[in-house]
Amino acid sequence: MEKVVLVTGANSGIGLALCERLLTEDSQLLLCLACRNMKRAEDARSALLTSHINAHIDLLHLDVGSVQSVLAAAQELKARYNRIDFLYLNAGIMPNPQVDVKALFKGLFSRNVINMFATAEGLLTQQDRLNSDGLQEVFATNLFGHFLLHRGHSAQKWDGTLQLLQGLFSSVICPGLVMTNLTYGILPSFFWTLIMPIMWLIRIFTNTFTLTPYNGAEALHWLFVQNSESLDPRAKYHSLTSGLGKNYTQPQQMDIDEQMSEILYSKLLELEKVVRKKQSEGNVDK
Ligand SMILES: NC(=O)c1ccc[n+]([C@@H]2O[C@H](COP(=O)([O-])OP(=O)(O)OC[C@H]3O[C@@H](n4cnc5c(N)ncnc54)[C@H](OP(=O)(O)O)[C@@H]3O)[C@@H](O)[C@H]2O)c1
Repeated sequence: MEKVVLVTGANSGIGLALCERLLTEDSQLLLCLACRNMKRAEDARSALLTSHINAHIDLLHLDVGSVQSVLAAAQELKARYNRIDFLYLNAGIMPNPQVDVKALFKGLFSRNVINMFATAEGLLTQQDRLNSDGLQEVFATNLFGHFLLHRGHSAQKWDGTLQLLQGLFSSVICPGLVMTNLTYGILPSFFWTLIMPIMWLIRIFTNTFTLTPYNGAEALHWLFVQNSESLDPRAKYHSLTSGLGKNYTQPQQMDIDEQMSEILYSKLLELEKVVRKKQSEGNVDK
């Protein structure tokens, strides 16, 4: 039976590289590219079809930053497919990222210098704003829209109550530092190209500089070929590239406060109720 795989933000960067890798791994896949811009989605499909002529690739309109779009997409998915085997929640934004020069210089002369480059922790600032649903744009796009989509797909109405489907596995990954449209928003692409030799050098000390979308998609691809039951839900799976350019995936335990996770989850459920109510009231008003 062909596997059904959905990738959000599949038209560029890590998402597109993942699609390419998945089709190479399994040519029988039914791949659904979920994108906000259908022209870019068409272009991505054409690019994938040039290397995988017989691939089965569907497109779905999805703006993860819009509650209305996510709910419509979730309905559409239920109507189109009777199951989804892999849901890759990849789409993300980083609006107007800026390097915090003060933090950079402070970090350069500290013992934390390698870790600072490896994780970019504290190095970047971004400009968030409210979207048309009244939610912070980064939260809505990177987290809440995906939460809603995942709930819309994995929850079914039985006897009037919402229950999670059995056998659902969820994993977190980190792609490392990858050259994509997202990083080109921080510094122009020519600058990254210019400092590439330095980045290769740094890679000797930190394997998190995966640099290419293909390498960055390593952990996502690795998860695809694992037995889901053997995965650790408390681990974050890192795409890593060695100094010699070898790709591999390594789990790292996440520092999770269970109580805080429970609170976050119940807050997300509360917010889901609020936005669903708003949506249905909006639909009645129309
Ligand atoms: N690059 C890195 O170093 C890095 C590091 C850590 C994590 N990440 C994460 O990796 C993921 C992929 O990013 P990338 O580096 O591959 O960047 P990218 O090339 O900019 O890809 C992001 C994708 O998300 C899509 N997207 C953005 N907002 C969307 C929305 N509201 N609805 C639907 N799709 C939307 C983009 O579509 P458009 O083309 O229409 O904009 C694009 O296809 C992101 O979640 C990012 O946060 C990246």
